[in-house]
Amino acid sequence: MFTIYGHRGLPSKAPENTLAAFEAAAKVSGLKWVELDVAITKDEKLIIIHDDFLDRTTDMIGEVTHMYYDEVKQASAGNWFHSQYKNERLPTFDEIITFANNHKMNLNIELKGVTGDNGSDLSESMIRQVTEKLKKLNSDSDVLLSSFNLVLVKLAQQFMPQYKRAVIFKAAAFTGDWRTLLNYCGSNIVNIEDAKLTKNRVRSIKNAGYELNVWTVNNKMRANQLSNWGVDGVFTDKADELVHLNS
Ligand code: G3P
Ligand code: CA
Repeated sequence: MFTIYGHRGLPSKAPENTLAAFEAAAKVSGLKWVELDVAITKDEKLIIIHDDFLDRTTDMIGEVTHMYYDEVKQASAGNWFHSQYKNERLPTFDEIITFANNHKMNLNIELKGVTGDNGSDLSESMIRQVTEKLKKLNSDSDVLLSSFNLVLVKLAQQFMPQYKRAVIFKAAAFTGDWRTLLNYCGSNIVNIEDAKLTKNRVRSIKNAGYELNVWTVNNKMRANQLSNWGVDGVFTDKADELVHLNS
């Protein structure tokens, strides 16, 4: 089995992490999974955005955890990409659930590490809300929860043990204690950065019995090579070009 994940939707065709990008991904025939990034505002509302700050992907500036939901919902999340997307807003988590139900899509929900001095409380609030909101997801949609942040993966284990969990690693952060980290939060899935990933490393992770997904792979030959090495899936910005590798 080899799985293609539409990383932040289909960001090569529409602004990342917007409903337009997820709808574009849903139109890719054969694509079953999208990845998205969940963050939380100062007033504890879930919002879909990759960065800690609005600056790169909206027409506003500011740190998400220092801003109120009503403020961040004013931002255009698409004008930076093309004026035709100027009315795109940062999606809410409820909108993502509706999207998944409408299209029978599976969700890889990346739980973003919370910045600021109220991080512990906001982290738990995020997990509690994701837990509650996922109750509205139809049972024919699958879920993979993931994070770089072990506290969040551990909380996910506590609140949503029914869902698969992955720990995300940057290449440089993948050190010899990786199994200890995964065991700590009851995960058997490694989501690792592609940079300098070798066949030997793939083999050692797979031989240890873990599922292994790689991000972010936009090159067809590289995706094929990883598949041949036994990798279980790749996250790509170009799901439309790689979807035929799904098996
Ligand atoms: O989960 C894979 C990937 O999304 C992690 O990196 O920075 O794109 O969220 P990033
Ligand atoms: Ca992500």
